[in-house]
Amino acid sequence: MKRVILIGAQGKMGKAALSGLRKHEVITASRSGDGCDFHVDITNKESIKALYQKVGPFDAVVNTVGFCEYAQFEKMTEEQWDTTIQSKLLGQINVVKVGLDFIKDSGSFTLISGILNVKPIPFAIADATTSGAIDTFVKCVAHELPRNIRINVVNPTVLEEAWDVYGEMMPGFQPVPGALVGKAFERSVDGFISGQVLFVDA
Ligand SMILES: NC(=O)c1ccc[n+]([C@@H]2O[C@H](COP(=O)([O-])OP(=O)(O)OC[C@H]3O[C@@H](n4cnc5c(N)ncnc54)[C@H](OP(=O)(O)O)[C@@H]3O)[C@@H](O)[C@H]2O)c1
Repeated sequence: MKRVILIGAQGKMGKAALSGLRKHEVITASRSGDGCDFHVDITNKESIKALYQKVGPFDAVVNTVGFCEYAQFEKMTEEQWDTTIQSKLLGQINVVKVGLDFIKDSGSFTLISGILNVKPIPFAIADATTSGAIDTFVKCVAHELPRNIRINVVNPTVLEEAWDVYGEMMPGFQPVPGALVGKAFERSVDGFISGQVLFVDA
């Protein structure tokens, strides 16, 4: 059994990840902390550090947080770009950067991206751009991580559990069950792979 920190645990993707982590001791966190063990704001490095200090020794971090703004490219404001970059891109990078000072030897990080960087749809340019950047970050930074620490990213299509929210903006997409996406998180945490983008698509 591993000690796994799951950030964003009460979200739709967090619940999908949790389904693949049941054999582990899972410590949950989110921005509000509602229904979780701890609160953390991934856009704030001090908040990330405080979470790791409070949790104590751990083997893995699974982050399912990455807030994105949705708008047509021509109408996207600088603030909307910044909000998305601070959360989905820099927030996740800082979960790893700060986490390196705390995670055990041979530990692992698992991040979240999303299929829209390879299957674009209208209004999703910020999500697509930051998802692509996170996929690249994971593939490349894996070569630099010390102490046998691994890193992967789960890149899923839309969840069945989120189809009522996103279905209308994603015609022609086939949603997948959260339990299937949970398997990808399990493969990342329990396997030996690193630097991989784990696509889950129908
Ligand atoms: N849903 C899908 O079908 C799907 C498919 C592919 C990829 N994704 C990606 O998965 C990610 C999560 O999506 P979701 O559908 O799970 O969203 P969600 O249901 O809205 O959940 C978001 C979660 O993130 C937490 N959160 C938000 N900002 C935070 C911050 N700054 N620090 C810490 N926690 C924060 C929220 O915590 P509080 O509630 O406590 O604020 C909540 O637990 C997104 O990047 C999305 O693009 C989603």
